[in-house]
Amino acid sequence: MSDPMRPRAALRTAVVWDVLQDALERRVKATGRQALDVLDTGGGSGNFAVPLARLGHRVTVVDPSPNALFALERRAAEEGVADRVHGVQGDARGLFDVAERGGYDVVLCHGVLEYVDDPAEGVRNTVAALRPGGVLSLLAAGLGGAVLARALAGHFTEARQALDDPNGRWGEGDPVPRRFTAEQLTGLVRGAGLEVGAVHGVRVFSDLVPGVLVDTEPGAQEALLKLEAAAAELAAFHSVATQLHVLGEAGEADGA
Ligand SMILES: C[S@@+](CC[C@H](N)C(=O)[O-])C[C@H]1O[C@@H](n2cnc3c(N)ncnc32)[C@H](O)[C@@H]1O
Repeated sequence: MSDPMRPRAALRTAVVWDVLQDALERRVKATGRQALDVLDTGGGSGNFAVPLARLGHRVTVVDPSPNALFALERRAAEEGVADRVHGVQGDARGLFDVAERGGYDVVLCHGVLEYVDDPAEGVRNTVAALRPGGVLSLLAAGLGGAVLARALAGHFTEARQALDDPNGRWGEGDPVPRRFTAEQLTGLVRGAGLEVGAVHGVRVFSDLVPGVLVDTEPGAQEALLKLEAAAAELAAFHSVATQLHVLGEAGEADGA
């Protein structure tokens, strides 16, 4: 399946898309339905929801931000998928005020756990939204990637602070409230009753290399995409990735 994202944006999300599209194809085969029901928790302006709708799936986006939902609506209309994208105001804690419990084949929780008060509760809610056999796609900021990035920028004290801080923050000015190790994320997924599937490191190199090298060297972007894909699966690189992606799989018989 072709990557539905723009090329530059693809560098940030290619690994997640590859894993997600494989998971969707497996669910299509297993359910015999071409159009899956997808819930995008904290889906924002539709970076994933709109391309998923373009693949033919029905996507419900739950997000607390009216501005994001407005942008989502406009983007879905521009891309001709307004009938398959449903935006609704809500949050991970009160998910079932606005979304159906046990109603989705695939649930996305991308870039949200960093911001919720209680990540374990957030994951439990996303899991409770899954149908039996459903798949959770969890993407969150990685601790090691932030430490490495601060250190390579010469901010050694901040890098050290992120290492020591229980939430992985490098200081007061850090815009991200919480970061995770791969072990923490897989622990949350298992704790919510899912089997842990594939674990990938996302943006291992992309955020560290100077943009000029990627934009001006012929073939550099393509080569970097291939390098990211190869490193993503290796546990050695999980500890330095900017983001971590974890697939969680619900049992077919009993759901989760
Ligand atoms: C970094 S953006 C990620 C957007 C989208 N998931 C993506 O991957 O492009 C974080 C999103 O989470 C939303 N958000 C913040 N707190 C949330 C909460 N408690 N429950 C659900 N979504 C939340 C924000 O409004 C924002 O749209």
